[in-house]
Amino acid sequence: MALPIAVLVSGGGSNLQSIIDRIESGTLDAEIRLVLSNKPDAYGLTRARNHGIPAVALEHTRYGSREEFDQAMVRTIRDHGAESVILAGFMRILTSEFLNAFPGRVLNIHPALLPSFPGAHGQRDAADYGVRIAGCTVHFVDEKMDHGPVIIQAAVPARPGEDEETLGGRILTLEHRIYPQAVQWLAQGRLRMAGRHVQLDPSEAAPAPQPENALVNPPLENGF
Ligand code: GRF
Repeated sequence: MALPIAVLVSGGGSNLQSIIDRIESGTLDAEIRLVLSNKPDAYGLTRARNHGIPAVALEHTRYGSREEFDQAMVRTIRDHGAESVILAGFMRILTSEFLNAFPGRVLNIHPALLPSFPGAHGQRDAADYGVRIAGCTVHFVDEKMDHGPVIIQAAVPARPGEDEETLGGRILTLEHRIYPQAVQWLAQGRLRMAGRHVQLDPSEAAPAPQPENALVNPPLENGF
């Protein structure tokens, strides 16, 4: 059975789109039961509707507390039958109560090589710092921001003087490959967490060609 997921967005939703595309092409064994946003005008909601996926906005400003907002999200996610939660540019910190509702089943993508440059401006902070290697990380979510156990990372070279736009664009291209891949591993039940360490159970599949000028670990598999 396809993994029933909710994708949470606050903005454009290009990562959401990469997941939709892999599902529609038959590579990713998941079903998006719901796209949820705290911003009613998030373009990610439009992307969902364009693909016949239920799209719901819950405005956090209408709730008295973070806890109440998270309770409403949990109810909505469960009502739609989703059992795992994929954060794709969702700009809210989640309470323990939310995380406890989906134990070991909340993923996030961050546009930097964690633990470097957590926070809302990973690409900009890396570019400003002058790093020569940048990248992105998919991780399980815990109570701390951009902190939980790492599932997969992709690294790209950064050039001197490069700005957030060009570096961020190169990182985003890889985000669109590693995030659907990580969700597929979750769907296949191949991710095992032991403390901070995430073990990927091996597969019989032949190794896929890896992206040029990038280092991805664990390596991408066929179709990603
Ligand atoms: C991505 O850079 C992601 O890593 C970060 O927020 C951005 C979302 O972009 N968490 P999009 O909405 O998926 O286009």
